[in-house]
Amino acid sequence: MEITLTGITTTGTPHLGNYVGAILPAIEASRRKDVQSFYFLADYHALVKCQDPALVHRSRLEVAATWLALGLDVENVIFYAQTDIPEILELTWIITCVTAKGLMNRAHAYKAAVAENTADAGNDPDRGVTMGLFCYPILMAADILMFKASKIPVGKDQIQHLEMARDIAARFNYLYGEHFVLPEAVVDEKTAVLVGLDGRKMSKSYGNTIPLFEPEKALRKLIMRIKTNSLPPEAPKDADTCTLFQLYQAFASTEETAAIRRRYAQGIGWGEMKQILFELLNARLSEPRQRYHELLGKPDYIEQILKQGAARAREYSMPFLQQLRRAVGIRPLSV
Ligand code: TRP
Repeated sequence: MEITLTGITTTGTPHLGNYVGAILPAIEASRRKDVQSFYFLADYHALVKCQDPALVHRSRLEVAATWLALGLDVENVIFYAQTDIPEILELTWIITCVTAKGLMNRAHAYKAAVAENTADAGNDPDRGVTMGLFCYPILMAADILMFKASKIPVGKDQIQHLEMARDIAARFNYLYGEHFVLPEAVVDEKTAVLVGLDGRKMSKSYGNTIPLFEPEKALRKLIMRIKTNSLPPEAPKDADTCTLFQLYQAFASTEETAAIRRRYAQGIGWGEMKQILFELLNARLSEPRQRYHELLGKPDYIEQILKQGAARAREYSMPFLQQLRRAVGIRPLSV
């Protein structure tokens, strides 16, 4: 059976952009019976970006609760926390030893950090660069190679990491035999990149997000803040360049979207459109929002689901790691 796998870095609170671009398509895919999917919280990866223990802890809970509240099918998917699979770290070291440093030198995230440092002459090029940041792609390769996943749904920014995982797998296979499956990135061009409050891409780093499970009143306030142009209510408007329309479309049915498109052509006031958008989002999100808040109050229940997922994942990782250890020559001395 085809194996797909994807990781969700547990930093920050999920927002509408995450929902439309990643969570929703993944949850839909989680119901497919013809593939075995692995979804996991990349909480070791979170440590690269966030060194505040309270935030790391909170974000693991929030991200897990979000996925469960939105209906992730945990019977079908194997859903776990990376930190519950010790074999991943062992594998990370084994493949670190076949990974060329030069390959890691070329990673976009690392190169961007160096470029920023050297913009000021006299700076240490590696200022603020941890080995965690430098080796991030190796840990990610271990996540993937451990479960022989062939299809990896990711955003465009992760394509290079997938190429690196392939390079590392190929190098290992060349040295030790065909143990790893070479993974492929699956980038869905159709999934929307949502625009945020200020008209730039919705992203935590721009501080322009709408958190997914904002309480009703706060959600309304945020929607009222979305930037629009200054056309008067009766003027015909272009739906396709409008943030409000884009958000509406991400949540509405095809018929609802077509109806609103006609309203744009006839002229619609921004105040009215914002109210319409608020009502739609609130209607779609109120049930999962309630489930989300219930789940936040039941961390033991979430933990139990993650532990069950980890037990299922380890049915794969434990025997495979034994095989890999033997392959590199770590085996009982008597045989
Ligand atoms: N690096 C990914 C991101 O930031 C998260 C991730 C970690 C991941 N391990 C993975 C994604 C393995 C796919 C497969 O989005």
